[in-house]
Amino acid sequence: MIDNLEITRRVQEALPWIIEKRRDLHRHPERSGKETRTSALVVRTLEELGVEVRTGFHTTGVAGIIRGSRPGRTVGLRFDMDALEMQELTDHDFRSEVPGMMHACGHDGHTAMGLGVAKVLSGMREELAGTVKLIFQPAEEDAQSGGGAQYMIRDGVLKDPDVDVMIGMHLWPDLDLGAVGTRPGAMMAGSDPFIINIRGKGGHASMPHTAADPVLAGSHIVTALQSIVSRNVDPFAQAVVTVGVFRGGTRYNVIPETATLEGTVRTFDEAVRLQVRDRVIAIAEKTAEALGTVAEVDYRLTYPPLVNDPGIYERAKSCIQDILGPDNFIEVPRPAPGGEDFAFFAKAVPSAFLFLGYRKPGETPVQPHNPHYDFDESALGVGVRVFLRCALDLGKGVSA
Ligand code: NI
Repeated sequence: MIDNLEITRRVQEALPWIIEKRRDLHRHPERSGKETRTSALVVRTLEELGVEVRTGFHTTGVAGIIRGSRPGRTVGLRFDMDALEMQELTDHDFRSEVPGMMHACGHDGHTAMGLGVAKVLSGMREELAGTVKLIFQPAEEDAQSGGGAQYMIRDGVLKDPDVDVMIGMHLWPDLDLGAVGTRPGAMMAGSDPFIINIRGKGGHASMPHTAADPVLAGSHIVTALQSIVSRNVDPFAQAVVTVGVFRGGTRYNVIPETATLEGTVRTFDEAVRLQVRDRVIAIAEKTAEALGTVAEVDYRLTYPPLVNDPGIYERAKSCIQDILGPDNFIEVPRPAPGGEDFAFFAKAVPSAFLFLGYRKPGETPVQPHNPHYDFDESALGVGVRVFLRCALDLGKGVSA
């Protein structure tokens, strides 16, 4: 039986290697869906460690399979690999060597943790019940194209061996370094954009009776959309409806032919998500019609709400408390309003998503997607320890 001290010792020993991988990845950031160098590095490293490798999952996705010496469940661990189109402004000697691309969301750290788990766990097969599937995912940041998770699932990443349970993790600025947090139920928002094109009939501003005014129709639609959260959504559920763009017209004395609204909806529950979608479409279409115009709604369901399974949450919580000590487990009070396509895995199999703290006492951490983004690399050791404890415990199944 491998105890926590031994796991921690092996992770500490591997940490310089993990940090070296992270810095290599950081120097060579790649855009969503084009993570070819990253993917090749993952494949090469897993092969060097003697880990069974599968590729061909949605562009650059990779799965590494580590089989234990005893039967048990298959635990999926997910690591995202993509970077962002932005210029890095840190002065690290390992800063991005690619102009206009930067690992500003810590996915370099996530990928390096995946390799760290592979390195340590491949030396622990004797202790492992069941199978661990390391899932290296492209395109988490590319919600507009649907992300990477749902296409890896389509391409069979959860099959053969079938994944029974999954854990994902994201570096998180609002938790202290050394701590890991999560919560039961909703963890991150579903994030769905919409565009409403309103077609009217243009005319002279002084002769509105000969026209059909899309600006007026758009104004009523914006106002009526605010009734969804106040009048349709259960007061004990949460949702956000925001219209961020209202485009229409070219001159003060011309009634234009068309107007366009663009907005986003955030929800934390699938039923509320679909309810809000249906109401946005109905309000836009019917209000436009009532005012003599026509609205066409392009409503995209991109990332669903990320909902943690209550049972896996409990298991993950006890793993975190076990390996890090009770004080380093944080029950996150509220779901985060950002989107995360791990949500697709969480819909497919019982899962828990964890936040990995990197805030240092007395310091204001740099938020993700900032050109100065940075995190303390010792957090990677904390994350790998938690992944390992979860993999070893969840593989044993419920009755173990
Ligand atoms: Ni991210």
